[in-house]
Amino acid sequence: MLANQVQERICLISFRHAIRLREKLILKQAPFSITDIDRILRSVALDIISEAIFGTSWNSLDGIDEQKANALSTIMETLHWRINDLGDRSWRNRPFRPSKVLETYCLQEIRNPMPESMLFEWMKYDLSDDELQNLCMTFLTMGHENISTAMSWLLLQLAQNPDIQNQARKQVIESGIFKSTTPPANLKMKLNSLSVLSDSFLEASRLYPSVAVLSRMNPKETQVCGFTIPAYQQLVVSIYDLNRDSSQWGDDAHIFNPGRKCEAWTFGGGPRSCVGKPLSFIESPIVIASILSEFQVRAEKVLPQNMVSFRPGKHELEFVQSAAKL
Ligand code: HEM
Repeated sequence: MLANQVQERICLISFRHAIRLREKLILKQAPFSITDIDRILRSVALDIISEAIFGTSWNSLDGIDEQKANALSTIMETLHWRINDLGDRSWRNRPFRPSKVLETYCLQEIRNPMPESMLFEWMKYDLSDDELQNLCMTFLTMGHENISTAMSWLLLQLAQNPDIQNQARKQVIESGIFKSTTPPANLKMKLNSLSVLSDSFLEASRLYPSVAVLSRMNPKETQVCGFTIPAYQQLVVSIYDLNRDSSQWGDDAHIFNPGRKCEAWTFGGGPRSCVGKPLSFIESPIVIASILSEFQVRAEKVLPQNMVSFRPGKHELEFVQSAAKL
């Protein structure tokens, strides 16, 4: 669980990067279309999580520090190909330890951590350099890929559901969060008023969970639905299928319908469930709300592709200036 203080900090960091994104989009002069919203949101999420961990952002949205962002992206792709073993065997032998670039960077930061950063907090525990470096890498990878995929699906679902998008925008405007480019004093509390956006985030990631399958090892022989599973088997659980199971979700399980009262499996379950869930519920509404505060978005149905996470496939997202005023 992320401490309250860390959550407050992440609110402010997310707000700053959301404003940067909005300014970048405004410069494009609506109407315009984007075919790589997932790549753009990946940069935003990386800038947010790098600032949360190290105290300074990689600013990859502006193309700064691309060397580190590229090194991280190679690790993510290696991870993907090694897990999925999809034919190209050359990936099998590629190491997925951090490249020299990231290793040197992490060690530098460990030697001189910025006060208030997550790394500074982790250093209060008795951890070796190796453990600290692994923590940084875990949070960097998990903390930008899954969340940016979830934000992309949220925006794409809103783009296909104009009525829900308008309700979400109404709340964003009434909240006044983006009235100014400086964050309001009680930002975290104000996020509670964006219920349509949070419900839509849950619903979009129910339909398109960033992590589509989980695996678990059963420590002893188990019976499941009349089948005997011997001990120490690797079990693969499809979150995608569980989240669309009509016996749990009803006949409209495949429809985007925010506000459902059921708990989806998007963030896993049990003692190893996602530690970044609270952060996701702060960062995603802030980033997507900043876009809705300025633009109306439209898109046709988009199919998923299993690439590192369950990313959106080919898409074209249209941006039109929103008539609603802040
Ligand atoms: C919408 C965004 C996200 C989704 C859908 C997601 C999903 C998941 C899932 C399904 C797992 C495996 C859980 C299990 O095995 O039961 C997981 C684990 C994890 N997630 Fe997330 N995640 C998201 C965002 C984040 C963020 C922002 C961070 C970090 C800041 C993060 C850090 C982690 C870590 C460290 C683990 C491993 C936990 C462990 O093994 O004990 N996640 N996540």
